[in-house]
Formats: sequence, C-alpha cells, structure tokens
Amino acid sequence: MNNRKHKAVFIAALFVLVIISFSCGGKKDPSAPAKLKIGFLMETYDLDRWQRDEKYFTERANALGAEVIRAVADGDQDRQNKQADNLLTQGVDALVVIPKNLNTAARIIKSAHEKNIPVLAYDRLIMNCDLDMYITFDNEKVGYLQAEGILKSVPQGNFILLGGAASDNNAKLLRQGQLRAIQEHQEKTGKKITILADPFLDNWDREEARRRVSNMLTKFHAEGKTVHAIIASNDATAGGAIAALMAEKTAGIVAVSGQDAELAACQRIVEGTQTITIYKPVRRLAETSAEVAVRLAKKETPAGIMKDLGFTLHALDNGSMKVQSIFLEPVYVTKTNIDSTVIKDGWHSREKVYANIHGNK
Ligand code: GAL
Repeated sequence: MNNRKHKAVFIAALFVLVIISFSCGGKKDPSAPAKLKIGFLMETYDLDRWQRDEKYFTERANALGAEVIRAVADGDQDRQNKQADNLLTQGVDALVVIPKNLNTAARIIKSAHEKNIPVLAYDRLIMNCDLDMYITFDNEKVGYLQAEGILKSVPQGNFILLGGAASDNNAKLLRQGQLRAIQEHQEKTGKKITILADPFLDNWDREEARRRVSNMLTKFHAEGKTVHAIIASNDATAGGAIAALMAEKTAGIVAVSGQDAELAACQRIVEGTQTITIYKPVRRLAETSAEVAVRLAKKETPAGIMKDLGFTLHALDNGSMKVQSIFLEPVYVTKTNIDSTVIKDGWHSREKVYANIHGNK
C-alpha cells in the first residue's frame, strides 16, 4: 500500500514536471539577449550584382546571429529616407545603406544618430554627414583600370567617356581614375587621346546609355569623326553602348569598357564586343559589411573594428568629415584572364560565360 502510494506520488510529480517543461519550451528565456537587427537599405534590386550583395550579406549576418530587415527603394531617395525612418521606428541596431543620391541620403544618418543608431555606407559614399563607416572597392582605381584596359587596345584616337549616374559619388571617382589613366598614358607614350564627349547619365541604365550613345554617334558621323573607344563606367551602360554600335555594325571594332562582371558582359567579352570589365568580388564586400555592421550594432568603435578585422585605415573626406573607410581590391578582366578570375571564383560558370560561342570552348 505504502509502496503503491509512493509510486502514485512519483508518477504525479513526473506528470507535473513534464507539463511544466512543455509549457516553458516554446517561450523565450527572458535573460537571453535579444537578437541584433540590421536594416539593409538598398537602392535597387535591378542588376544581378545587387541580388548577390543581399544574399551574401544576409547569410553572413545570420551566421553571426543577427537578423536582416531589407528594404528596396527602386531608385527613389525619398522613398529610401522613409524606409529608414520606418526601420528606426521598428527598432534596429544598425543601418547599412546603398544610397541613390550621394547628398540627400545624409538625412538617414541624421535620423539614425538621433536614436543613437550607427550607419555603414555600402559601396557608395554619402556626403556631408557624420557617417560611422564606409566600405567599398577602390573606385578611383576601378576607373583607372577601365581606361588602362581600353588604352592597351586603342593607344590613340577619339574617345567617348560615358559616365554613370550623376547622383552616385562612385561615378565621379571612376571618372577621376579614367582621366588620370589617360593623362599618364599621353605623357608616357606621347600619343593623343581626344575626348569627343564625356556625359554623365541620370541612371546606371542600359536604355538611357543606348539612346545617348546612338545620338552621339549620329552627331560625330555627321561631323566626319570616327569614334575609336567608349569608356563606359559599368556593364549595364556598356551593354547600351554596344547595342548602339551594333546598329551601325561597329560592335567589336570600337573598344568598350564596363564594370561588375555581369554575365551578359562576360559573354560579350568572350564574343569580342566588349573589351574589358572590372570584377569586384561582391561576396567579400557583402560579408565584410555584415561583420562590420554586427560590430557597429554592438557599439564597437570604427577604429577598433578596422584594427580587429586587419584593414588599413583610409580616411575619406565626405565634405564634412573624414570617414573611416575600408577599400577592397577590384580585378581587371579581359578575354585572356576571364577563366582565372570570374570563372575560377565561381562568380559565373564556364558554361554560361561561353554559352553563345560555337563549339563552347
Ligand atoms: C555603382 C557601383 C557599380 C554599379 C553601379 C550600378 O555605385 O559602384 O558597381 O553596380 O553602381 O548599380
């Protein structure tokens, strides 16, 4: 009897314990720290590269235990500023911004700092604000490499410099690098480059580029001038320039540069209509940014972060301060080294790059 009673008490106690542990299982431990939240504000989702930027960024941030909340502004800075306000109201621990407009995006930093939230500018600098950190590829160098690549195949003649979006600080830095390469080349070789036109576009847009280049070609033909090279600042606009050249059957004769190692551009390179592209290992940018953002969210200092991650300090003037910046190395890609760069890195498969070539190399 006594034994039976003990047994009953024991079973009842076990039952209670099981119930308690089940009911607690789904609940959060109140002493566990809340998950860090990072707001990722993207200008656009259009180009292939930006989708990869987001993927690698999110994967690394998640692996570091942070949650990423993404918003895409579709090329509208006002919308991005509102998205930033929304995220700040929801509660994020850091913001990472790919701005549309180098100037008006400064509002985001102001609002974030009012709430003591740090901001990292991703790939594009934001001017005249108290930015916490900036990470990018060395854009002046990208521009230099673009021009250098073209000058190797066209050492003299008439050039069009097709600038990127005027609202993007990178477009200006690329131009500086291009001009520096041209100047050095002229001094070194004594050969003359004539710049027939050097517009900036409204957007990094293929169709806008096609239209502008097509109009320029018509105009220069009428004036009896031959265009020998087009230094386009990215692959989308290179694609537009090449479409304009195709219409007058000079694609492959006029040298054209680009940037981003987009699949279509890599295909044009092996097919011979585009001369070079600049490959920026986006995975490195995205993953490093995630590391930096998580550390900023934990309120680590920019100087400490740079030191811990082993980066050399670059202090970049944004008009109101020297921003602590991380510069990554861009890679120059032509027909000759495409296999050992873009393909080797797994950025695009060999099958896809050579898809349109007969006999598929
Ligand atoms: C620039 C960036 C380029 C290109 C372009 C178009 O800011 O540096 O790599 O992607 O935007 O979105």
